[in-house]
Amino acid sequence: MALPQNFMDELVARCDIVDVVSSYVQLTRRGSNLFGLCPFHSEKTGSFSVSPDKQIYYCFGCKRGGGVINFIMEEENLPFLDAVRFLAKRAGLEMPAEEGDREAGRRRQRLLDLNRDAARFYHRLLQQPEGGAVREYLERRQIHKSTAVKFGMGASPDAWDVLLNEMTAKGYSKSELLTAGLIVDNKRGGFYDKFRNRLMLPVVDTRGDVVAFGSRVLDKSEPKYMNSSETPVYSKRRCLYGLNLAKKTKRPNIILCEGNLDIVTLHQAGFDNAVASMGTALTTEQIRLLSRFTKELVLCYDNDNAGKIATERALQLLNGSEFSVKVLQLPRRRTEDGELVKQDADDFIKNEGPAAFERLLGGSETGVEFRMAQIAGKYDLSSDEQRVSYSEEVSSFLATLPNKAEREIYAARAAEAARITIDAVKLDVERARKQKVRKENRAELRKSLNPAAQLQPRDRALRYENLRSARAEEGVLRLLLLDDSLFPPEPPLQESDFSSPLLGRVFTLLWKARTEGRGAALPALAGELTAEEMNHVTALCQQPESVRNGRQALADYIRVIQGEAAKRSGRKPDLLLAAAEKYKDKKGEKRNV
Ligand code: UTP
Ligand code: MN
Repeated sequence: MALPQNFMDELVARCDIVDVVSSYVQLTRRGSNLFGLCPFHSEKTGSFSVSPDKQIYYCFGCKRGGGVINFIMEEENLPFLDAVRFLAKRAGLEMPAEEGDREAGRRRQRLLDLNRDAARFYHRLLQQPEGGAVREYLERRQIHKSTAVKFGMGASPDAWDVLLNEMTAKGYSKSELLTAGLIVDNKRGGFYDKFRNRLMLPVVDTRGDVVAFGSRVLDKSEPKYMNSSETPVYSKRRCLYGLNLAKKTKRPNIILCEGNLDIVTLHQAGFDNAVASMGTALTTEQIRLLSRFTKELVLCYDNDNAGKIATERALQLLNGSEFSVKVLQLPRRRTEDGELVKQDADDFIKNEGPAAFERLLGGSETGVEFRMAQIAGKYDLSSDEQRVSYSEEVSSFLATLPNKAEREIYAARAAEAARITIDAVKLDVERARKQKVRKENRAELRKSLNPAAQLQPRDRALRYENLRSARAEEGVLRLLLLDDSLFPPEPPLQESDFSSPLLGRVFTLLWKARTEGRGAALPALAGELTAEEMNHVTALCQQPESVRNGRQALADYIRVIQGEAAKRSGRKPDLLLAAAEKYKDKKGEKRNV
């Protein structure tokens, strides 16, 4: 890591988690923990817990957790180093003008320079004979030259190593090109350009840096779009295509689309407030990023099943947020053969023109209207029976709206649609709402009684290969965090004994901290673990573990882990088992003296 360990330790020690979190969340004490409303997802009852002893936070609702640095990374939407800087300032600590720090900053800047140089190279090529095919493609899609310039578009050559040669001639190393995701390792000691014969669409962040590339083939081959993978300067969860331009719009809102070229067409048609999430579902990080520029979003996803699901999901994510949200539904289009087909924003502008899009934008329905229409679409409202079912479903949806006035207004609409009295619907809504709150409270109670029940790793990379061993590995980590005096001076386990690579890595890190006399604790690991990993490790530390029988438990855990490790490696487990037993005995002796 870039920062010296003693600085990190002092920072974590000076930034008490309760203090820091309290400036964002109102906390109340319940037992040994404090609870409040989670700042990372919208909720009515507090599932967000802070443990002063372990100096960690954990939300039982959205399952995010970590130490004080993770909290600031999430809450302030900052990368690791900036979060550290933020906390250092708060604690009155000087940031060490440290080699590693400068080194990491330098490497980052090199990557950004490389991306910029690559973008310039692709852009230059677009004007040259080699760029002819891409120029023709742009023409076919009616993208003007000035638009191509505004978006910094380019052409990647139809060859295997042109970029590689150009950039190495400029002094970039193969390793830098690999890290930037611009070349690919062919696994036989060679490298080749990742992007070939494609329209290049640089992804520019709100600071104006080229952080990644999207790209499109010129024909019907696959994959249609190829984007940069994640790099030290690019996290797709935190990025939106076109936001560098849209952030300057004079329009009151921002339009969210699915595709890169929808954005290009919209900007060209005067809708300079359009951004795209580049084919992925909207993330909370993107929402937080958007909140810096607007308080009004218009969802303009494709009018097909996938688009509707994406809209529903985005609406759920935005429910209860500070944004007002509208949904712009693009009508389907009838082809010459009379078939109804979906159109995206790009198709629509080309078929119907910008004025028609402006009309749709003006008349776009609110997120609630969209969801009500989705529900209404499922029922035949001319049948009494179905009207009752409609009213039930719509009421339970309306019950999820946090705002009472909103619930009333839309209850009236639902009443009209189902031809029932307003009072009847309102009654249904409030009943559903009470039920929902009761259910949430019960779920919360269950969770607080049995937090282990819901701790299932969701991320594939975090999924356990060997559950039996992993549970024991979790136990070892918990004990190490709770009371490291249970452990001998020499590590009782090797990283390779762990069936879960993550848990093994965390064990090694904690053990290192312990032998360096810093004490094993989670918050200082913020720089070593991804957010997902940190969430996972924090979650498992929330499970109950008693130190009272710690020694026995530890010996049992070790035996299980070594037994499973032996099975994996095909070694005879007996020897290892004997070693574990002996270790337990020794501890027993010690205890008796
Ligand atoms: P679509 O398949 O809807 O394409 O993907 P599109 O935007 O209409 O593309 P055109 O008009 O044929 O050029 C929507 C978005 O999903 C991402 C891209 O960002 C694309 O713009 N995507 C799509 C990928 O990342 N990879 C793919 O293979 C396809
Ligand atoms: Mn399209």
